[in-house]
Amino acid sequence: MTSTEREFITGLPKAELHLHIEGTLEPELKLRLAQRNGVDIGQTTVEQVQASYEFHDLTSFLAVYYPAMNVLVTEDDFYDLAMDYLRRAAADGVVHAEIFFDPQAHTSRGVSFKTVIDGLWRAVQDAPSLGVDAALIMCFLRDMSAESAMETLTASAPYRDRIVGVGLDSDERDNPPEKFAEVFARARELGYRLTMHCDIDQVGSIDHIRTVLHTIGVERIDHGTNIVEDPALVAEARERGIGFTCCPVSNSFVTADMKGDEIVQLLHDGVKVSIASDDPAYFGGYVVDNMLALAEKKQLTRDDLALLARNSLEISWVDDGKREVLLARLDAYLSEQ
Ligand code: ADE
Ligand code: ZN
Repeated sequence: MTSTEREFITGLPKAELHLHIEGTLEPELKLRLAQRNGVDIGQTTVEQVQASYEFHDLTSFLAVYYPAMNVLVTEDDFYDLAMDYLRRAAADGVVHAEIFFDPQAHTSRGVSFKTVIDGLWRAVQDAPSLGVDAALIMCFLRDMSAESAMETLTASAPYRDRIVGVGLDSDERDNPPEKFAEVFARARELGYRLTMHCDIDQVGSIDHIRTVLHTIGVERIDHGTNIVEDPALVAEARERGIGFTCCPVSNSFVTADMKGDEIVQLLHDGVKVSIASDDPAYFGGYVVDNMLALAEKKQLTRDDLALLARNSLEISWVDDGKREVLLARLDAYLSEQ
């Protein structure tokens, strides 16, 4: 792929819908926060931090990911983390970012919900000054109990207007979606939008996807490309306009490949697939890198790339007036090419 293609992709107005803010903690910021907060992380150079990034599946990734969060302590830490990401997102042509955060990964080590949300919310408010809009999605950790998720949902109540929706992440093994059916039903009553991870090649992936579509009633699925195993479910997802947030670079770290065939098949089948970056500081690719990697591997056309950007805007949780404005920006960009 030429530098012209990188430029074309960067210029596409797009939404990033699958981005864990804790997964944007770059080695440089990790070291700076460790020093600022007097936290010993056992590493003092970027090279040492990078050398610790040894993972081959979701579980081994998460074993590196959670301990690193110990450097996130104050409201300013969360603000700095989010602002660093938003600067990169703006440079990648992201016009709207829906950012996942994991309150339990912080409250479980003594950092209050308020500290986390106040820091992130300040960044959301400052995001437009960088040329990007942002929103927050609160994720529950599926390897913790449903009771803990329900407590977290309750703790979020005073901040209801700062959070657009809820999701489910962390280790899927032995933690099927139905474990959180009640929590998600309550979240829906509270007016939250719903999404859930159905990670790649998990034991029971296709059953989990069926459950999130039929029982939980999500609007979007994060990852979810194992749906291609059941053509009837693919047809249903297309008819219902279910959004998929796929992350090719992260897929190739936690499984044997980027699942490009599946992503392209779904895209060409008319399923609302978008591309996002998941945990870019760990997997080494922000959203443009992800789109480029897929484009190179699967020889995507510019029409394919434009459709991925269009889908991201269509399945985002902006209000409809804003969506029209963003889609018009995309159309204007395409007509200039
Ligand atoms: N937490 C951060 N990244 C994740 C992923 N890709 N899957 C599940 N949980 C996560
Ligand atoms: Zn994810």
